[in-house]
Formats: sequence, structure tokens, C-alpha cells
Amino acid sequence: MCGIIGYIGGKNAAEIVYEGLENLEYRGYDSAGIALKIEGKNAVFKKKGRVHKLLPLIEGIQSDTGIGHTRWATHGKPSDENAHPHTYGKIAVVHNGIIENYGILRGQLEKNGEKFTSSTDSEVIAHLISSYYTGNLSEAVARAVKMLEGSYALIVMCEGVEEIVAAKYKSPLIIGLGYGENFCASDEPALAGKCPQICVLEDDDIAVISKSEVAVFDSNLNPVTRQNILNLALPAVFDLGNCPHYMLKELREVPASIKNTSSAFFDVADSFKEVISGADRIIVLGCGTAYHAGLLGKRYIESFARIPVEAENAGEFRYKNPVITSGTVVFAVSQSGETADTLEASKLAKSLGAKLVAVTNSPHSQLSRLADLVLPVVAGSEICVAATKSYTGQITALYLAALLLAGAEISGENTRNLGICAGQCKDLCQNLNVETVAHMCAQSSGVYFIGRDLDYAVALEGSLKLKEISYIPGEGYPAGELKHGTLALIDENTLTVVIITDEALAGKCANAVNEVVTRGGKAAVITNVDSAAEELKGQAEIILLPKCEKYLSPLLSAVAVQMLAYRTAVILGRNPDKPRNLAKSVTVE
Ligand code: M6R
Repeated sequence: MCGIIGYIGGKNAAEIVYEGLENLEYRGYDSAGIALKIEGKNAVFKKKGRVHKLLPLIEGIQSDTGIGHTRWATHGKPSDENAHPHTYGKIAVVHNGIIENYGILRGQLEKNGEKFTSSTDSEVIAHLISSYYTGNLSEAVARAVKMLEGSYALIVMCEGVEEIVAAKYKSPLIIGLGYGENFCASDEPALAGKCPQICVLEDDDIAVISKSEVAVFDSNLNPVTRQNILNLALPAVFDLGNCPHYMLKELREVPASIKNTSSAFFDVADSFKEVISGADRIIVLGCGTAYHAGLLGKRYIESFARIPVEAENAGEFRYKNPVITSGTVVFAVSQSGETADTLEASKLAKSLGAKLVAVTNSPHSQLSRLADLVLPVVAGSEICVAATKSYTGQITALYLAALLLAGAEISGENTRNLGICAGQCKDLCQNLNVETVAHMCAQSSGVYFIGRDLDYAVALEGSLKLKEISYIPGEGYPAGELKHGTLALIDENTLTVVIITDEALAGKCANAVNEVVTRGGKAAVITNVDSAAEELKGQAEIILLPKCEKYLSPLLSAVAVQMLAYRTAVILGRNPDKPRNLAKSVTVE
């Protein structure tokens, strides 16, 4: 949530900060703002809406120091006033996170006569730093952050002070190291192609950033050392190629995600065996799409390795009193590796003695740094808010992990099957015709996705994706549950999408189609079972998938449901890359 960036150096900060914000927009797009140091003073430009609205405000401005913010609103509605940077006295600040005790702090500051101009939690930070500032900015920041409860990554600029100062707790923050210039940002895409090296800050770090150097301190301002690593973020991730949307571009990268994730698995297979040795119980955690991948992971591990698995929503897991035994291994699944609920749930599990395996495509994320082992999802950066190729990458990693847990070899038929499936996905991404069903979705008042076993897990994903980017209400259900309540919702304005990839369950799922159609509802079937397609073709619109190894069918049906959601959103004129009210990484609780 919220993207932040800071720059100090020989180039024009207005341009660098603006470009960085454009690259960070997937983190939130309710408002945007930039503060630039002009003749020693903080000049602030901010606006409700997307980053491009700043362009006319900053055009022609030259500055060597600046900070910027693109917002996903938590406290205070999207507006010019609530846009960051927030300023008070000589201080300008951009913040990502939530200050949970802001009400108390604001009350105290207001009692002292300070006037607030926004209804955000973040504005208290500018006031606090200003109140502690007596000539040493890092000291003022260190004192101010000690007052904060919640989470923060912040970058501060002060009139009369050359350096910028950054601090973090729970929310991610990285430093970009250049020659005669340095950067600070909430995440790597902001720095794509900008600097050769980065370093990742740890909780409670405070960084003092000048043109020529970066010094990192702990919360008491004792120097600490953080490792510099190569900046691997490439500007190419922002190149749409010939695709109108990142979602389509990233769907077309599904085959590469499957292949690359499966090749990378070999590098960690031995360490993985060590981490899982003695595992007698597994918990898979994640949120949203990552949780849906976890549901498939559960089915794979239980079917192949016969080890009991619980797949849990990370946001729920962390608020219960989980049972962790000495043989418990937790798999935390997360594209960003920064989802607050997944991180907190993982920390809880670790603190109770579980081993932690991160399944992520963000190797420098907080989750990766917390984990005993990272199972790499090599999907590359995902820009579209709706997860696509990261999901299929996560499924691939969990499938291979389940095979290893079962003592199987990751070679021969297993990898061949994945390769075949990647090829089939490539064909689907180019040629699958979902148009008729997408139009049916677009005309429906509600769309229900149903399936059994593996297909049920994909039904949940299909439903989430359609809601997320088309705003059509709906739900994902086990096919058998339909008659236990949802059937009451079925009428001629609703569509039920039935996923059938398991021959053994096809008959039972066909019953559900009949039940829907009998009650006047419309139905569509996504299947690779020929007999089901033949039997149901008079009653439902059929999307036919190729045949594949049973347990890999979710890779194909995932592409189908994601493509269906994409086309529906486009038909309805929605922007699938930036759905309303959402942001890509949910770094607040
Ligand atoms: O970065 P993560 O994988 O931890 O994110 C989890 C969810 O926020 C994410 O999958 C979300 O549900 C997607 N936008 C769905 O498309």
C-alpha cells in the first residue's frame, strides 16, 4: 500500500521522483504528491487521483532533492488535502503504513496549539518531527518514531538540511546506491534501471542519505551495517509490449513463470529436504490469490505425501491460538513477500517453533528474510494489481514441493508434464476463446464459480479475480454446497461457471449444472473432460481445455478463469490493472 520514493543527487529530482511514482502506482492510486527542495525550501505539489495529475504541476521545475508518495487511502478519504507529502514547519514527510495511536498524538499536539490540515494518521509524523527538531534531523526522526505505534516507512526532508532521512518499522524500505546520487523507496520497481546497488533496511533502522553517502543507524542512532546487493529491477517490466494491459501481458508470461519456477526449484531442492525432514504437519498460509494457491498446495501435499495440511487465511491464523508442534512446517505463500497479515502470521508461527518456508517471487522481501528457506517463484515482477503469473508460479512451486515431500524424484515424467502444461498455457493465453462467456458475465447480476476438490480451489480464484476487476458480485463454492443455500440466488440474471477437470467427479458436477439451468439460471462449463462437454453442451456454454496430468489441471483452468475475468473487465470498460479501492501489496493490517 502507498508507494514512497526519495532522491538526492545531481539529476533533476522532479523527474526521478515522478518516474519512480509512476512505477510504484500499483501500490495505490488515490492521490499523489511530491515535495522538492527549491532554494532550501520545501515546495509541495499534490493532487487527488493518479500520478500523471502531478505532471503539469512540476513541469520545468529543477531540484536536486525530492520525496514522493502515491497513496492507498486508509485514514482520510482521497483528496488533495489528505495527499502526501505532509508538512509542518520545516518538515515534509511521506509515509507508508498506519499510525495506530495517531488520535492520541494528534490530541496532544492540538492541545499545544498545533493546527492540522488533513484527516490522515500520517500528518502527526510531520508535527512530531518538527517539534523535536532543534538542528539535528536524524535525532528528531529517532525521537519522533519512538512515539509511533503501528507501522511506518517514511522519508523526511527538512528545510535548511541537505540530507534526507528515512526510517522504517514493519513497512518495507530500501536504499538505492548510485554515483553522486542516492535513493530511497518502498520497493524495487521504483529504482528499476536507476542505480547499480540497493540495500534493504531492517525494522527500526534510520538512514541518513546524502548525495555522496548513506549512513544507517539503529533506533538509538548507533551505526549499523546493511549488506549492499545488486539492483536487479529492470525497466523492461514496465514495457507493455503490444499488450493493452499489464494483466494480459502477465497472463502471457504464465508459461515462463511455470518453466522458470520449475527450473529454479532444483537449486533449492536439497535445502528444502533438510528443512522438511521430520515434518509431520504442514500449515499453508496466504491471503487472497496466494491463499488460493495454498489450497492447492494442501491438496497436493495430502495426496502425494499423506502429511496432514491446514491451509489458512493468514489474517485469521494470526488471531487464533495456533497449535504448533515440533514437526510443524509453515509454508507462507506471497507474491510480494510484504503482505502484513502473512508476515505477522509467519512471525507468530516461527515464534512458536515452526520452521518457515516462504513461497514468493520477492527474494529481498521481509518474508524471504524471515524464512528458513525460500522456494522461489520465478514469475518476475507483477505490475497488475490482479495476480496472474505469480499464482501459477506458486502452484508450480507447491506441486514440486509436494512431490519432494512424498519422496518422489523431481525429474522425468514430473518435469516433462510441467513442460507440456506450460506449452498448453501458452496456447491458451493466445487462443482460448472466452468471449461468449465473458459477455454472459458482463450481463449478469451475479456470477458463481463452483467446482470440486482441485476445481473448487480454482473456482475461488475465478470468483475473486472476476469481482476484483469487473466489480460483478459473486462467490466461489464447492459444487456440492450450491444446494445448501446459494441455489436460492439463482435466477435468469445469474451465471454459474462450473469447472470440471476431474473425470471421476464430472457426473456430480454435471448435476449442479442441471440444478442451475432447471431454475432458470445461466451456466458455463470450463472443462477438459470430453464426456462432460458433450453431455452439457445443450445446457451450458462450454470452454474446452486440453487434457493434462490431473494435478496440473489447475494451471490450465487458472488461465481460463483469469482470462475470463480479464475479458469481462475489458468489455465493461474497467481498468483491470488498477481496480478501484485496491492496491497490489497490502502492507497494512
Ligand atoms: O503479495 P501477496 O501475494 O501476499 O498478496 C496477497 C493478496 O493481496 C493478493 O493475492 C490479492 O488477492 C490479489 N490482488 C488478487 O488478484
